[in-house]
Amino acid sequence: MSTPPPRVDYNAVHDELAHQQPEAISAMFGRVAQRYDLLNRVISGGLDLYYRRQLVHAVNAQKPRRVLDLATGSGDVILALKRNSAYAETAVGADFCLPMLQQARAKGAPNLTAGDAMRLPFPDASFDAITISFGLRNVADRRAGLAEMRRVLRPGGRAYVLEFSHPPSWLAPAYFWYMRHIMPFFAQFFTSERGAYEYLGDSIKAFLPQAALAGVMRQAGFASASWTNFTLGIVALHIAEV
Ligand SMILES: C[S@@+](CC[C@H](N)C(=O)[O-])C[C@H]1O[C@@H](n2cnc3c(N)ncnc32)[C@H](O)[C@@H]1O
Repeated sequence: MSTPPPRVDYNAVHDELAHQQPEAISAMFGRVAQRYDLLNRVISGGLDLYYRRQLVHAVNAQKPRRVLDLATGSGDVILALKRNSAYAETAVGADFCLPMLQQARAKGAPNLTAGDAMRLPFPDASFDAITISFGLRNVADRRAGLAEMRRVLRPGGRAYVLEFSHPPSWLAPAYFWYMRHIMPFFAQFFTSERGAYEYLGDSIKAFLPQAALAGVMRQAGFASASWTNFTLGIVALHIAEV
């Protein structure tokens, strides 16, 4: 019989993330790793699977030779890329949180490596595509992360950033109020992890809206950056080309 994972103090986690210390971010994901997939399904009502399918569909249209799934976490994206034969040669998954990588390995994810998005352990121009799904928001220095993605992509390569984003202004106040005050009650009911949802809503609100993220991607050296909204912009897929 497996031991139940330790309870997480998400208020402390939120304080840590407010200071964006990479060690604290990695430690937080290490503490939630065993429940991460369940939390994902509950948070999104299963919609996260749909968003990842859209990401895989976009990569499939490019059919890269070598793809890096950055902040691969428990491996859902790299596994979906593999299942859908979305790349011609190799997929590599990188994350700096070992317990998350252990979850990915247990699910059969291929080619996993420990690596920090801000200092990628790969030579210049070594991938045709990079995916990062619900990861960039958690990277302490996003500009450094995007510059590293740009560095390891080949000319003509593409970065695919799937991330929570901002709904239109008429919906935003109600959406963020719901995320901060109602969603945590659902969380408590389903998972006893109310604080995780409080953190999630706050971090989404603080993250770059669609056009701002596209601008930061261009500043990081990408030649173009565009996005597609899902669910009225609650989630967006940015695609940037070198
Ligand atoms: C919300 S999870 C997303 C996991 C997965 N991509 C998915 O779609 O479910 C965020 C992941 O980003 C990773 N992460 C955050 N900052 C990172 C960094 N600087 N370098 C590598 N991984 C990082 C965390 O360890 C965690 O596994």
